[in-house]
Amino acid sequence: MPAEDAPMIRLEDYRPSDWLIDTVDLDIVLDATKTRVRALLKLRPNPHGRPGAPLVLDGDELTLGSIALDDVPLDPGLYSATPQTLTLASPPDRPFSLRLETELDPGANTKLMGLYRSSGVYCTQCEADGFRRITYFLDRPDVMSVYTVRLEAAKAEAPVLLANGNLVAAAELPGGERHFAVWHDPHPKPAYLFALVGGKLDHVRQPYVTAEGRKVELAVYVEPGKAGRAGWALDSLVRCMRWDERVFGRNYDLDVFNVVAVSDFNMGAMENKGLNIFNDKYVLADPQTASDGDYASIEAIIAHEYFHNWTGNRITCRDWFQLCLKEGLTVFRDQEFSSDERSRPVKRIADVRTLRATQFSEDAGPLAHPVRPRAYKEINNFYTPTVYEKGAEVIRMLKVLIGDDAFERGMDLYFERCDGTAATIEEFLDCFIETSGQDLAHFAQWYEQAGTPTVVAAGRYDAAAKSYTLDLAQSTPRTPGQPQKVPLVIPVALGLVGRSGDLPLSSISPALKAGGVVVLDQPSLSVTFTGLSEAPAPSLLRGFSAPVRLELDLGDAELLRLFTADSDSFNRWQALQTVATRALVRAGASGDLGGLDAKAGELAQALEGFLAGPATADPAFAAQALRLPGPADIAREIGKDVDPDAVFAAHRKLAREIGAALAGPLAALHAGLREAGPYSPAAGPAGRRALRNEALGLLALGAPAEASRLTQAQFADADNLTDRLAALAAMTLIPGEAREELIARFASLYAGEPLVLDKWLMAQALIPEDGTLDRVRGLMGHPAFSPGNPNRVRALIGGFAANLTQFNRADGAGYGFIAGIVIELDRANPQVASRLLGSFKSWRMLEDGRRELAKSALAMVAATPGLSRDVADIAARSLA
Ligand code: PHE
Ligand code: ZN
Repeated sequence: MPAEDAPMIRLEDYRPSDWLIDTVDLDIVLDATKTRVRALLKLRPNPHGRPGAPLVLDGDELTLGSIALDDVPLDPGLYSATPQTLTLASPPDRPFSLRLETELDPGANTKLMGLYRSSGVYCTQCEADGFRRITYFLDRPDVMSVYTVRLEAAKAEAPVLLANGNLVAAAELPGGERHFAVWHDPHPKPAYLFALVGGKLDHVRQPYVTAEGRKVELAVYVEPGKAGRAGWALDSLVRCMRWDERVFGRNYDLDVFNVVAVSDFNMGAMENKGLNIFNDKYVLADPQTASDGDYASIEAIIAHEYFHNWTGNRITCRDWFQLCLKEGLTVFRDQEFSSDERSRPVKRIADVRTLRATQFSEDAGPLAHPVRPRAYKEINNFYTPTVYEKGAEVIRMLKVLIGDDAFERGMDLYFERCDGTAATIEEFLDCFIETSGQDLAHFAQWYEQAGTPTVVAAGRYDAAAKSYTLDLAQSTPRTPGQPQKVPLVIPVALGLVGRSGDLPLSSISPALKAGGVVVLDQPSLSVTFTGLSEAPAPSLLRGFSAPVRLELDLGDAELLRLFTADSDSFNRWQALQTVATRALVRAGASGDLGGLDAKAGELAQALEGFLAGPATADPAFAAQALRLPGPADIAREIGKDVDPDAVFAAHRKLAREIGAALAGPLAALHAGLREAGPYSPAAGPAGRRALRNEALGLLALGAPAEASRLTQAQFADADNLTDRLAALAAMTLIPGEAREELIARFASLYAGEPLVLDKWLMAQALIPEDGTLDRVRGLMGHPAFSPGNPNRVRALIGGFAANLTQFNRADGAGYGFIAGIVIELDRANPQVASRLLGSFKSWRMLEDGRRELAKSALAMVAATPGLSRDVADIAARSLA
């Protein structure tokens, strides 16, 4: 079937499976080109299914070798097998077993779904529907089975053999060349959580005893020779396991927990039961090859996958429409863990930056969809910032709305009630309805309605009445397929800031809840606060209490006052961002950069005071304050008829002027924050490096000659990758020979380190200059690049597609380049290709000329024969 004709799968069509599979016995003989899979499935009719229904098993590019029912070979007239399905039209109306044999060619599997090889290691990826590439199965998350897996391989090729659960047997086979291992997972699970690994791997391990007293062997497996880089992942694992026991009362439930790093992986990592498989980018770390940012993401992703053991595995999803049930909740949990391990406000700021950059832009374009979509053609296209990050925001709002206590009891109830089941959002919310006593029906609209609401806020102080009235109004722009929008339940955490700090909040309005939260659940409402003897500045949406755009009628002077006086760190940061954003939106939309001089002066003055004051007490926060909104943030805020060159020019000018005005203090900061001792990835030193390097970046624009000198010295002196990378990034802002020399030096220093060279590729792909497209084309021929490896593609090609001015070149060459690569990549790896095509998601907000060029590039992709369902779906939705 041509991909464009793929059927739409709809939530309303859900019905339980007619058949269940209680146990699965797999016997897999690993071989590079001829892997033999024998499956024994114990089936029975589902009491909730249709009696007498046919049995239709899913397949994907499979060939059936043999089939037996209750151990008797099945008559060919009684079944039909295609690569996509195995059908028994009239199966027995009772429990029975099926033995199936299939043969796989893992070496030829370039899609990296199902069983494939990565640098010689056999591994699997089954979410969302890759298990059907291994054997015919009821490949849907509400069919949960107990798995026993026997793996056999040549010892020389695969000395390590891993699968889910606990190891129950392992031995050499007669002759001594081959061996086997049997793994049993007692916890029933959906097929998407199945995994196996076989290969030559080194590991580090550590015994762990859970709070409940279970002894667990933890291990992290990596490419031979890289065990020295696995320690941080293992350490992060131990810390997040303790945290989950302490904060959510969740203990681990098997005797082993294995993490395996592979170099070819479509996503970040995968939570397979007891056998998490990771993109090695999110495991390997040492000071020479991983940055502070890498250490932080490894910690977060190790935690994310581990936390899935309860939110995802013990309780899984009934169907893929419920994906946010596990993903949004698990992102929320990993964000909380990182906040507790590091600085909560800084983590929040970083998360909100990501949310705005990725999710707000998705919500504003043709790919917008609800946190719980109601229809899809290709589920792999719904592992999105909306499902993940906005999904986490919905959980965070729920906690604010019902309070910490009801939230905690609701989680406990969910774990107790839904354990071992494949659940829905409704079942999840019911738990919180019970513990809070609140009706959450209206709140649940957050799962159904796409688009980012805008909240408009205006306030008036009445000196005579000593009162302050705040008017709030909400609206949500239309999104594809959802022309009409309803008002949502928006928790607006707020404070009223006076001359010497927060003023008491007192109001008779029922909209004001405990903890200073106004719940905006109508199109508009007003709240009057009383007993105020001075005019307050409103600090709204504290801690970013809802994923909305806020339009505030507060002058820049007042915002700059909030930047110093607000007790809420997030809003201190936000105040400065808002001042810069407003000025940049004005200049970027009009092309008139005149007004920026004055604004640069005001911002520089505010920052100078800040840097001279207590700022350096929290360097990580100060680094966030120094970082202006990026050109893409400004483009998104402008929202229509965007000229990326004008936006970029405005951004450059503002950054340059602030950098020049602060050249002295920035250089002093850079000199003063130099770390003395050996490298540590801890939050403290990482924060100081962040501030120091942020200063260097601003200096590179404001005082390029001085910055170039400092940068080269920093590159030469650095004892860690973070400082070297920062030097490289700063240097890319300063065109000239010194830059090219540093780029070349970096490459020779890290030759043989693909993950580091990814950063090198990306730094070059992001250079905002006309020559970048040619540079990127040239780098595709560099030995550091390889089109078959998703990390390499994301670094170089994905980096270019994220380069606002160069991807959006006025001549359309950027679009043509990416479209051509998407078409080519699609033949080998549809998931990587379709993600790359997602780079076009903001094409409709561009000015006419670019919009037409982007549209024809998309149309060219859409018209290509033989597209995968993944790419066809993104192309069609982008153009709709
Ligand atoms: N479930 C994985 C996670 O979020 C992501 C993933 C999805 C990985 C699909 C591979 C394939 O943790
Ligand atoms: Zn996840």
